[in-house]
Amino acid sequence: MRFSLLSILFGLGSVASVWGQTNTAEAFFASESPIAKTGLLANIGPSGSKSSGAKSGVVIASPSRSSPDYLYTWTRDSALVFLAIVNQYTLGLDNSLRSQIDNYVGAQKIQQQVSNPSGSVSSGGLGEPKFHIDLSAFTGGWGRPQRDGPGLRATTLITWAEFLLTQGNTSYVTNELWPIIKLDLDYVASTWSQSGFDLWEEVNSSGSFFTTASHLRSLRQGIRLATAIGQTSVVSGYTTQVNAVLCYLQTYWDSNGFVNSNKGGGRTGKDANSLIASNNLFDAAAGCDTTTFQPCSDRALSNLLQYVDTFRSWAINSGIATNQGIATGRYSEDSYYGGNPWYLTTLAVSEQLYNALTVWKAQGTIKVTAVSLPFFQRISPSASVGEYASGTATFTTLTTAVKTYADSFVSIVAKYTPSNGGLSEQYTKTTGAPTSATDLTWSYASVLTALDAREGVIPASWGAAGLTLPSTCSNSGGGGTGGGGGATVAVTFKVSATTVWGESIFLTGSIAELANWSPDNALALNADNYPIWTVTVNIPASATFQYKYIRKYNGVKWESDPNRQFTAPASGSYVINDGWR
Ligand code: NOJ
Ligand code: NOJ
Repeated sequence: MRFSLLSILFGLGSVASVWGQTNTAEAFFASESPIAKTGLLANIGPSGSKSSGAKSGVVIASPSRSSPDYLYTWTRDSALVFLAIVNQYTLGLDNSLRSQIDNYVGAQKIQQQVSNPSGSVSSGGLGEPKFHIDLSAFTGGWGRPQRDGPGLRATTLITWAEFLLTQGNTSYVTNELWPIIKLDLDYVASTWSQSGFDLWEEVNSSGSFFTTASHLRSLRQGIRLATAIGQTSVVSGYTTQVNAVLCYLQTYWDSNGFVNSNKGGGRTGKDANSLIASNNLFDAAAGCDTTTFQPCSDRALSNLLQYVDTFRSWAINSGIATNQGIATGRYSEDSYYGGNPWYLTTLAVSEQLYNALTVWKAQGTIKVTAVSLPFFQRISPSASVGEYASGTATFTTLTTAVKTYADSFVSIVAKYTPSNGGLSEQYTKTTGAPTSATDLTWSYASVLTALDAREGVIPASWGAAGLTLPSTCSNSGGGGTGGGGGATVAVTFKVSATTVWGESIFLTGSIAELANWSPDNALALNADNYPIWTVTVNIPASATFQYKYIRKYNGVKWESDPNRQFTAPASGSYVINDGWR
């Protein structure tokens, strides 16, 4: 029998007695979670039964060899799957997973060093999205770079490291884990403001909410780890970037009540991207904080409702009442495999709501604001703006309605899960038959994380609680005003520079977006058009700043004085053509 942290804390005994009698969601999790755990482990090398050929600790996305070929390892999928594993182990839910975690660490240490089409370890290669399962580089065309991978991996490894510190294993953390983590954090600190592909590998834009969220959490948690093990030289640089990232995160909020997930791509922006991000940013200690889009924040709830509603027109959802769970996918314009519901996105809805319930119950109060009112009224028509303490009838009414609504999405997944429990990536929007990749590792992980959330499991805090939005954010839309997209302009820096083999060109300057003159966190330029080196950076509109290029090769070499100076245009984009001097 599994016990939730909350039920242990409150002495309430088994989960079933907390939440009431068996229902469809409960029955689904009871039968599906062992299948999901087995299915997940089958996809991890070296001995997973469906991942032969995968190196030790390598997570395959799926064993599918064609339509689609997913027999690769993605940094994102692997980090998310292993965050679930690390949480299960460190929270005492499954003590059998330790060697898997050690293997993952070993695999990531190797993978980081593999030069690939995005670059080498020191020139952007950490942003490469996927590798062959023997950890060699994948050199075919792909949407690269994807800048979420390093932050997600750092978060998984930091969470593991912080647990090991509580066990007194400081030397392993300092000598083995920290060097791996620091590479990823340095990458995040120096590239977060650059353009890249979103988690769905389709939109190349100046920002994607999920990706920015991964930057925020990893740097914030990284500062805490660095401080704990005395690696204080990174603290001030990372702190500057955390503040800038937190500002940038605010710019995705659309005052019409949703997160506009991508800075480009021409879509509504209502996207599972943002729900998965909220779950990744979940930190019960932060309560229903809005700036970090906590699962129970008014913004995240309003966003959830608007996201769900974009899928109502699918045949599979016809006739379902609007206060009931439906099948949901990545985003409504999706056409990949025809554009269908995904198991992991439908479960992300439930997971967010279960996480929200955990916080409301722990803090003993639930708040309805003007922003979250449409969400609450949908599932409880008489809801009105106010704050309701536990013990009041309204608290019970609202939390019961949220629980029922959350379970109803699980019921949809249960309905379209085949009888052997195997989970593909998608189920069709017409009949609900499984489609696309079979046995998707991430689908299985989403069952485990949704179940943990339902049981009130509280993952370790990552430091969201102590974060405050800087009083001024250079991007408008930050600063707590909640306005639409931030006023940034894409400035492309091009510099002609001949280099010797192994030498790379970087950029730094006087503003946070250019790493505040830090050679360590300077932005890597790419040499696709050598000898022209290029990087595109989103810079606050109209900002005046100074900058220089630097060379890195056995140390740092700066351009000669004086500093270069530039004023970003008020809108649009701009290309600067420089020659090394
Ligand atoms: C393959 C990627 O894996 C997927 O995310 C994307 O949706 C399709 N290409 C279509 O662009
Ligand atoms: C396509 C998904 O869009 C992407 O997020 C994922 O990393 C790959 N498939 C592999 O599962």
